[in-house]
Amino acid sequence: MSSDEKRITDKYGITFNEIRRLSLNGRSEEEMLESVLVKETWFMRGRRQFEFLKERFGKKELIAWSCGCATGEEAYSIAMALEGATVWGTDVSKSAIEFARRGVYKKRALRELRKDEVLRFFVKEGAFYRVKDEIKERVFFMVSNLLSPPPFNFSFDLIMLRNVLMYFSGNARKKAVENVVSVLKTGGILLLGDTEFLLNLPGDLKPVKEGDVYYYIRVAHR
Ligand SMILES: C[S@@+](CC[C@H](N)C(=O)[O-])C[C@H]1O[C@@H](n2cnc3c(N)ncnc32)[C@H](O)[C@@H]1O
Repeated sequence: MSSDEKRITDKYGITFNEIRRLSLNGRSEEEMLESVLVKETWFMRGRRQFEFLKERFGKKELIAWSCGCATGEEAYSIAMALEGATVWGTDVSKSAIEFARRGVYKKRALRELRKDEVLRFFVKEGAFYRVKDEIKERVFFMVSNLLSPPPFNFSFDLIMLRNVLMYFSGNARKKAVENVVSVLKTGGILLLGDTEFLLNLPGDLKPVKEGDVYYYIRVAHR
């Protein structure tokens, strides 16, 4: 591994196995990063998790964080499912966050939504769908690296860290989870992707299975 590759691995947690063939030569760090990030996502991905959240929180006021939110669908989905939620979406990709802030999507991103949800949450503009202002005004986006200390001076009731850790090396995974848990309230909930679980569980996280949904609950302050 070249020193440039090592620096980027340490900073962003990217494993270089899959990108060895990519050379940093002539590319900026941002170009290189953008070319390796996997930003695939869609609205209500893993719908049963959102159904669970609706049952759990109802219309309660709460603050949620969608980390590694890619182009914003997950963050907006939380706001759509939970009327009382204020949501922060962060991603290391600048282009993804700019896209998320616009909140305008192709039909493909809405493939898991029911017709009534599309009508309720979007305004159709030609071939595109714009998230309605009443949802957008509760969702905020920011560029942020999960391997840096979280850019918040408050804690969250709910954190979604879905389909992100799989791209990290072991050390980066541990660091990212520590960072995320440091801003999860006691009693707050951490949701990973449908098929993901944590191998080395921090002492203050308790795994819970409710129906067919797995999540982690923060049991104590450090
Ligand atoms: C496959 S998408 C997951 C999107 C969404 N969470 C979901 O489950 O549908 C993974 C996202 O993680 C982001 N990501 C990768 N490394 C990151 C890091 N170090 N800090 C923050 N975000 C990162 C990528 O840019 C990408 O948008």
